[in-house]
Amino acid sequence: MQPSRIFIIGSGVVGAATGEGFVGAGHHVTFIDTSVARVHELVERGLDARTELDLSAERDSFVFLTLPTPNDGRRYDLSAFTAGTASVGRALAASPARHTVVVRSTVSPGTTEGLVRSVLEESSGLTAGEGFGLASNPEFLRAVSAAQDFANPWMTVIASRDPQTVALLQDLLSPFGGELRTFSEPAEAEFIKCAHNIFNATKISFWNEMWLVAQEVRLDLDPIAATVALSAEGSINPQYGIRGGAPYGGVCLPKDTNGFLGYADGVGVDMPLLRAVVETNDRLEAVVKREVEAVSERTTSDVELA
Ligand SMILES: NC(=O)c1ccc[n+]([C@@H]2O[C@H](COP(=O)([O-])OP(=O)(O)OC[C@H]3O[C@@H](n4cnc5c(N)ncnc54)[C@H](O)[C@@H]3O)[C@@H](O)[C@H]2O)c1
Repeated sequence: MQPSRIFIIGSGVVGAATGEGFVGAGHHVTFIDTSVARVHELVERGLDARTELDLSAERDSFVFLTLPTPNDGRRYDLSAFTAGTASVGRALAASPARHTVVVRSTVSPGTTEGLVRSVLEESSGLTAGEGFGLASNPEFLRAVSAAQDFANPWMTVIASRDPQTVALLQDLLSPFGGELRTFSEPAEAEFIKCAHNIFNATKISFWNEMWLVAQEVRLDLDPIAATVALSAEGSINPQYGIRGGAPYGGVCLPKDTNGFLGYADGVGVDMPLLRAVVETNDRLEAVVKREVEAVSERTTSDVELA
């Protein structure tokens, strides 16, 4: 395979792991970071690192955005991300080659085709899909094992409205192995990454809430949780419970969620997550009921008209 030219914009935890992974695979990588201290650190590690992106004398390349997207209260602060994206747009304007800009930062669904596309088009004077490629390729690595996770991904997600851009990224990333899934809409990839993190957060909060109850009744949660991790279908079957628009029903789940809420209340533990689980299910039941009623009304009036 021909080595690719790769630029990493934002060379922190994800940027460094991504770029060093590509260096290890034989690609020609340049790291960009606005922090002079960070650039020095990377240069000392023998890497090509700079504070500014210059594409004027470069061949076709991949430009990975691994910029920070912290939260500011209940929203993403995209100021650094937007500034870094604009600097890429200005560099694109000065280059005769065709570059593929890849959003690897975690962003909310619609950011790549919304903010990123408009900032790049405005600052480059080019059009996405024509003057440059645009894709989403979220990172799933864990900070504690960033380099190993990049080198051995268990899931790679690539999304672009342009099939050729998907194919280019597939060629670049498939040698790393693991499951590779492609999508034609970047918002799908962005949604996957957000849902991935939120699912993990929800599971952790679930067991912490259970831990509070176990503490109260003097039981050791560890062997309990380790057993449920192997017994609950939601834990062992990847297909279980993932279909949207289908609330749980039957005898056990409604009875035991509500019953345990009363039990926890009795031992003095509030369970906001479990309450939200019941409330979400009640809400979904109402939505499904309304939809069924609407369909049956439409069917009745069709029969009357016929
Ligand atoms: N850390 C993780 O475990 C992890 C895992 C998956 C995804 N992510 C996502 O990846 C993205 C990056 O996260 P991170 O942990 O690597 O952040 P980080 O803070 O470690 O690194 C960001 C780097 O970007 C640099 N930077 C800021 N503005 C810049 C600009 N305008 N131009 C160039 N460089 C600039 C900073 O100096 C810093 O070195 C975020 O969206 C994050 O949510 C993080």
